[in-house]
Amino acid sequence: MSESNTAGTILLVDPDPKVAQSILSFLESRHYSVLWVDDGEKAYNQLDERPFDVLITELSAHRIDGMRLMAVARDRNPEICVILIAEQPDVERAVEAMRCGAYDFQTKPLNLGKLEAVIQRGISQQRLVLEKHELERRLDERYGLGSLIGKSRQMIKIYESVRQIAPSRATVLIQGETGTGKDLVAQAIHNNSPRKMEPFVKLNCANLPEALVESELFGHVAGAFTGAIQSRKGRFELADKGTLFLDEIGELSPGLQSKLLRVLEHQQFERLGDSKTITVDVRLIAATNRPLERMVQEGTFRSDLFYRLNVVTIDMPPLRHRKEDIPLLAQHFLKEACAQNGKHIEGITRGAMDLLIRYNWPGNVRELKNIIEGMVVRAHGRQALDAHDVPDHVRQSIQPEAGEIRIPTGVTMAEVERIVIEETMRICGYNKEACAKTLGIGLRTLYRKLKEYDIR
Ligand SMILES: Nc1ncnc2c1ncn2[C@@H]1O[C@H](COP(=O)(O)OP(=O)(O)OP(=O)(O)O)[C@@H](O)[C@H]1O
Ligand SMILES: [Mg+2]
Repeated sequence: MSESNTAGTILLVDPDPKVAQSILSFLESRHYSVLWVDDGEKAYNQLDERPFDVLITELSAHRIDGMRLMAVARDRNPEICVILIAEQPDVERAVEAMRCGAYDFQTKPLNLGKLEAVIQRGISQQRLVLEKHELERRLDERYGLGSLIGKSRQMIKIYESVRQIAPSRATVLIQGETGTGKDLVAQAIHNNSPRKMEPFVKLNCANLPEALVESELFGHVAGAFTGAIQSRKGRFELADKGTLFLDEIGELSPGLQSKLLRVLEHQQFERLGDSKTITVDVRLIAATNRPLERMVQEGTFRSDLFYRLNVVTIDMPPLRHRKEDIPLLAQHFLKEACAQNGKHIEGITRGAMDLLIRYNWPGNVRELKNIIEGMVVRAHGRQALDAHDVPDHVRQSIQPEAGEIRIPTGVTMAEVERIVIEETMRICGYNKEACAKTLGIGLRTLYRKLKEYDIR
């Protein structure tokens, strides 16, 4: 079997040399490289030795169990195209096999032309799937880390930091405004670390009474306080050998700050109401949207704890400082929201995207996600989301840009008018009142001209 310039590699499993020979010579004449074996055992050995694009096997014959062979083959190569050869009475089982992942089945006597057509289709589909996987992998490599999306210089730097610090057990402090992706980064650090198979445990320190945070962190024994009926493990114990993510660490009370410091220094603590010391191996990641350094200066956050926490710091950039990520994120959230709401929306028009890019995004990526979701839910039909779908509060908060309108020479007056109206609309954030006012024309005139020039 020569594999250079082949149309595909095929493993043929058939106990009958005459049948096998006819299939083999036909397929070889069509430039497939075919390897023939006459029983299941030999087939398993071949599957272990090299990859095949296609497996053609008897569904059940002497020393051949097609279903089992298929399972093994798919285990070695999930995309392998399996074609089963069945006797007429076996058709029901063959259909069942297709449910289990076979690509097709053929009944005897075989029509070789038909068999080849199926192989061709199977292989080209397989290539598409492989290309898609490869594309996704490459996109992931280029534009993201795990579920983090963004290709701006700032985000690339974040990916680099995550990859760099993930392997160590250094404590990490993630700082950034709300909605910038601190949770996602914490998860990405864990997922890229040697601890990835161990637990990732999270606790949000905000909005909980001090006593509760304490028992959540360190656990308690029965009777430690009113209501503590059973003893319970805390997050530190649950995260043993893994990662503990403490969100909104700036909200931690002074008492808990000093307890946390002790755990960080000695990896030891006691459950509430217990004197037994517990030792754990936990990597800590903390996040805050409050500026800890300022809190240290103001005396509301312990400086020794701060220095313990910020062994490595990651500063998440606000979305308004990396506007080039907005289109990528918006397209991603659009797809996600369409899938969740069973809608098919073509995309986002230039006008709408322009508004999204110019908005200030105080709630960062979370706000963008929510706004796109809202736009999708309200949209009718499949038409692309356009400037009118952008919520009013977004449009109204966009400052008109001071802009210049460039008009090429050699255009008609009507064309000049169209360019001026289109650009003024853009500059005014697609706010028609503001646009009409800027142009010094009535609102109704503007409506008429927008319609005339098909500006949306
Ligand atoms: N770079 C990104 N790519 C894709 N989705 C993102 C990105 N950043 C944030 N998100 C999404 O935005 C939302 C908010 O992200 P996340 O919860 O990580 O923010 P946060 O910084 O922890 O916010 P908070 O300070 O309010 O806790 C999530 O739904 C998250 O999936
Ligand atoms: Mg968060």
